[in-house]
Amino acid sequence: MSVGAIPPRAASDRSLLTRRLPREEGESRPPPALRGLAPASLSLTLSELPPLRSPPALAALPQSIDDTLQLLKGAGYVADRALATVLFLSLKLGRPLFLEGEAGVGKTEIAKVLSSALGRRLIRLQCYEGLDVASAVYEWNYAGQMMAIRLAEAGGAVDRDRLEGDLFSERYLVKRPLLQALESGEGGAPVLLIDELDRTDEAFEAFLLEVLSDFQVTVPEFGTVKAAEPPVVIITSNRTREIHDALKRRCLYHWVDYPDAARELAILKSRVPEAPQKLSREVVAFVQAIRKEELFKVPGVAETLDWASALVELDAVALDPALVSDTLGVLLKYQDDIQRMQGSKVKQVLDSVRGELRAAE
Ligand SMILES: Nc1ncnc2c1ncn2[C@@H]1O[C@H](COP(=O)(O)OP(=O)(O)OP(=O)(O)O)[C@@H](O)[C@H]1O
Ligand SMILES: [Mg+2]
Repeated sequence: MSVGAIPPRAASDRSLLTRRLPREEGESRPPPALRGLAPASLSLTLSELPPLRSPPALAALPQSIDDTLQLLKGAGYVADRALATVLFLSLKLGRPLFLEGEAGVGKTEIAKVLSSALGRRLIRLQCYEGLDVASAVYEWNYAGQMMAIRLAEAGGAVDRDRLEGDLFSERYLVKRPLLQALESGEGGAPVLLIDELDRTDEAFEAFLLEVLSDFQVTVPEFGTVKAAEPPVVIITSNRTREIHDALKRRCLYHWVDYPDAARELAILKSRVPEAPQKLSREVVAFVQAIRKEELFKVPGVAETLDWASALVELDAVALDPALVSDTLGVLLKYQDDIQRMQGSKVKQVLDSVRGELRAAE
């Protein structure tokens, strides 16, 4: 994002400002050149605010669990009823949805699909260790502020109050994902994806509490920014550590499990429609079987889709032991797991899978 070219605030964004807070000692980190400037009175009067926009038509959101299933299916996501139920409730109640599950089971995809199906902007906050407020919420465009000071000084008489009002205005506020998510666009409030929350530290998690409870963020020099309409929030975690109860309490929770064979086949048909029917059934049955093996990392849906696509590229119409052995690296990502499966084990699993498929015909 360009930090130097933030356009003046559009009239429609003004409803974000709720109140102006006085700057307290030590609360902010302005650069040395800005220190000592007295905070100007920056309050907005009511007459400056635009008329309230009416909330978007509720019809845009699914009206039932079946509607939710259809909405997801229409965007290529094959959900089970439990997921559709919790998603429907989260949309209806305006509560964040917290999704936990193993890697590659379709957690992130839910937010992407929801954003495209509802026609809303997707704002993604990818979490990582050390993620801080400057990267997640906002920071001041210090270079731009310095330039404005220099220009004001060069121009002669400086109205200090006015200058500071300008320096800590939205013009120099660099909005990061959490702040962006509080702004509604034309299509309504955005979908906010807070991805892999378990990678951040607990301090950041605690900070999220204010955002998720009140859908507001306080910028000490600027005021409190509150969403006119709360975003649709999806939080994901791979459960590499437990997320604090306080955060979970503000969300609806769902464990995204590996799909059963019927659903995985439906996912495969939807995502890799070019795969021959026989091959798809064998791929799904084989993956389902090796998920029961003692592996360090069993394959997720992502690997099933990758494997099927790879086999289609190789013009395969059915599995055979040599083909499976040669392509195991698409499915398994640890050498120990590959070694464990290779050779007679592949043949054994494949024979049993074929037997089951024949019996089911
Ligand atoms: N139910 C589903 N319907 C359609 N596609 C799915 C489904 N589940 C998973 N996928 C596909 O599987 C792939 C992996 O999904 P995604 O990236 O959302 O997984 P994840 O759970 O977020 O994994 P990670 O924890 O590694 O980030 C995507 O390409 C997605 O399209
Ligand atoms: Mg993900």
